[in-house]
Amino acid sequence: MKIRSSNFPGKPLRGELLTALAYEGSLPDLGKDLATVVKRAKASGDLAYGRRKTSHFYPDNGGLKRVGFVGMGKQGKMDLEGLRRTGAVAQAQAEKLGVERFYLLVDERDHRRIPARQAAVALTEGLALGAYRYEPPRKEEPDTRMGQELEILYRGKNAREFHAGVKHGLITSAATIFARDIENMPGNLATPSYLAKEARGFSGGDLKVRILEEKDMEKLKMGALLGVSRGSVQPAKLILMDYNPRGAKGTICVVGKGLTFDSGGISIKPSAKMDEMRYDMCGGGAVLGLFHAISNGGMQGVKGKTRVIGVVPSSENMPDADAQKPGDVVTACDGTTIEVLNTDAEGRLILADALAYAVKTYRPDKIVDLATLTGAVVVALGHEMAGVMGNDDDLIAELIAAGDATDEPVWELPLWEVHRKQIQSKFADIANINSGAHGNGSISGGAFLSYFVGDTPWAHMDIAGAAWGASSKNYHRSGAVGVSVRMLLQWLRDQR
Ligand code: BES
Ligand code: MG
Ligand code: ZN
Repeated sequence: MKIRSSNFPGKPLRGELLTALAYEGSLPDLGKDLATVVKRAKASGDLAYGRRKTSHFYPDNGGLKRVGFVGMGKQGKMDLEGLRRTGAVAQAQAEKLGVERFYLLVDERDHRRIPARQAAVALTEGLALGAYRYEPPRKEEPDTRMGQELEILYRGKNAREFHAGVKHGLITSAATIFARDIENMPGNLATPSYLAKEARGFSGGDLKVRILEEKDMEKLKMGALLGVSRGSVQPAKLILMDYNPRGAKGTICVVGKGLTFDSGGISIKPSAKMDEMRYDMCGGGAVLGLFHAISNGGMQGVKGKTRVIGVVPSSENMPDADAQKPGDVVTACDGTTIEVLNTDAEGRLILADALAYAVKTYRPDKIVDLATLTGAVVVALGHEMAGVMGNDDDLIAELIAAGDATDEPVWELPLWEVHRKQIQSKFADIANINSGAHGNGSISGGAFLSYFVGDTPWAHMDIAGAAWGASSKNYHRSGAVGVSVRMLLQWLRDQR
């Protein structure tokens, strides 16, 4: 969908649809020429004020075919998530009416205490993300999507901030849509090489992209990452994205699991829903989405400049005559030896080398990883939030705050010494799983990763639940959510 914004003109509009927001007991002011249709709408009793309820009416004069309303409930109760969902409902209404171009009137009273810029970001995200659908490869080109062109008309004092917010919202939504697209793609199309190719496209300006190949990994002794990749004919890639703006003070690393298909390897998964393991690269998807945003100016206007390194270890996990076996011992690039008790706990293995390499190479002030690491986190927290754990309370608090700000909730799980002890091994320094008798499956994944970050402030986000399967958002219909792209950008923008 194309979205523009401008100021609400005094003069009459022409077109298919103008949508406005309707509060209980207070009619939107659409200007003199539309006053009659608003009055008639109210009198009909069909104007729905309830939250996210829609209605539409036909003016009997002028150049506008329809006036639509999205109900907002009681005035004064609106928050950012409410605006985001309102945007999605407005888009859906236009789509349902088969309208290709429409206007959305936004008045400053529609966001009240919420600053104009933030309100505009949220509304734009709702509109753009609500319109998203994965377009699978098909024999016939699909019909062009409805509701494709929108002009947001703003009426209020802080118009300049509002329009800047729309621009930023377009950056965050395009990045989220980029992430959704690569996440939804099947494993045979979204291979490690494909992700690497997409990442290369971000280079330019302050952003450099480098791809480490398997021969480089061998030189660097990345035995954990190479061990996972051994069963696959697809070459593993280690994607490195380096955003280094002039005057950058600190360095932050963001690492994402880019496992493009997880069969489990020799510890093979059951067949049912194995296709969903296309989503096992969603941590990488979030990091690639973040760099999509950065490459489109997502960090512009931020005062405190930070160097941001994105790291995506990418491989497949397949069974094969040459695949690694349960009981194999591999050595990560920092020298830590790992007993691979379960080849299906492979995400932590590819992350081990990525984290150790990032810590050693970039000496970051903070490092965060995101991964669809455990089925257990779905049991613990469900699909509407991510789990977070780590070795630094302040960093965890920053991530929770960023998630709250973008409505991508993050909930902390404990990670204590007792959990780290559970993965001691007789045959190596550590094993890649704890005994099932311990329980705490998600925490043991975090405990494993903690061995590879040393003293660097670090947090691990387990997004196995949040990456797909959520159902509470109007601006997400099905499939990959593109989760954490917006919150990561928010978190980075809030660094000082
Ligand atoms: N990619 C999976 C985690 C996963 C499973 C995410 C189901 C979403 C839904 C991961 O690689 C994995 O297989 N983890 C194992 C770990 C276990 C062997 C300790 C799991 O969760 O079963
Ligand atoms: Mg696995
Ligand atoms: Zn996996």
